Amino acid sequence: MKRVLSGIQPSGTLTLGNYIGAIKNFVELQETHQCFFMVVDLHAITVPQEPAALRENSEAVAALYLAAGIDPAKASIFLQSHVPAHAELGWLMTTLAYMGELERMTQFKDKAEGKDSVGAGLFVYPTLMAADILLYNADLVPVGDDQKQHLELTRDLAHRFNQRYGEMFRVPEVYLPEVGARIMSLDDASKKMSKSSPTPGSYIALLDEPDVIRKKISRAVTDSGREVKYDEANKREVSNLMSIYSQCSGLSLQEIEAKYEGQGYGPFKKDLAEQVVATLEPLQARYREIRASGEVADVLRKGASEAEEVASGIVRQAKEKMGFLLPKLGR
Ligand code: TYM
Repeated sequence: MKRVLSGIQPSGTLTLGNYIGAIKNFVELQETHQCFFMVVDLHAITVPQEPAALRENSEAVAALYLAAGIDPAKASIFLQSHVPAHAELGWLMTTLAYMGELERMTQFKDKAEGKDSVGAGLFVYPTLMAADILLYNADLVPVGDDQKQHLELTRDLAHRFNQRYGEMFRVPEVYLPEVGARIMSLDDASKKMSKSSPTPGSYIALLDEPDVIRKKISRAVTDSGREVKYDEANKREVSNLMSIYSQCSGLSLQEIEAKYEGQGYGPFKKDLAEQVVATLEPLQARYREIRASGEVADVLRKGASEAEEVASGIVRQAKEKMGFLLPKLGR
């Protein structure tokens, strides 16, 4: 079976962007692939985290995975920090990467912009992400569009390692959703929908109450026209809302255009809100049950042991190829 790996940072409330860009594909891929889905807590600390919030958010992301339908019997769900091989291979990858290629990462540039001091962890962040992926010899990495550049770097590092030390790492492919690989802000379609945005009206949180979702969608910015038409160049706002509609309803963009032909934005936005509510309400109910049941800890323990089994062998092999003198296995 082909392997899949992906992860989400526990750095705040997850959004509909995370769901459409990533989680929805996780749920589909678990049926046909061997999957590893992580909560990337080591990545989250590349910006300051309140310890109590990090703990809460880590458990919350794992519970959201379960609530969205990831089945621990089919996929391994675990915390990155529970599998030490991530930090270890992360360091090895850091030594393979060049300053220049890390400086070109647009996510680093965005996050560092305007800051007086920028953490070194934020700079080497993509090398840890490369390690995450290579540790499982993942074939596919389901992510949103904003992670494409990090995937390219991962591929480059895999090639570099293989060339320098001998073939070992599989070179992974990015796996994007066909529609909605980049969900944009509701109040500004030039920016991606993000959990770190200071304006809650710009995003839909997966745990937003139905009435909050309705309000946010009714206030979402549109253009001054009235045609529900997918046109990313000229109708960015409506195109973004259509992508959300398509992903929540299963209708294609063409079907949505046909359904709202000649009707203006009003009915479209109203129905969109109901589609989003219908997608998130069951997830929220399951989330509450899962949190109350206390089952997350067991799921994470099982997931970490499954992940460890694969990852510890790969990091050992990488170290051997690089020339580390290895401790003898066993006693
Ligand atoms: P993170 O935590 O920022 O986002 C998690 C996933 O959600 C996707 N995403 C979006 N997709 C569409 N539209 C949006 N507005 C949107 N916002 C977020 C992201 O593309 C991502 O897939 N570096 C990663 C986490 C990571 C990782 C990995 C991913 C660490 N190691 C290994 C894959 C494999 C990140 O910060 O994602």
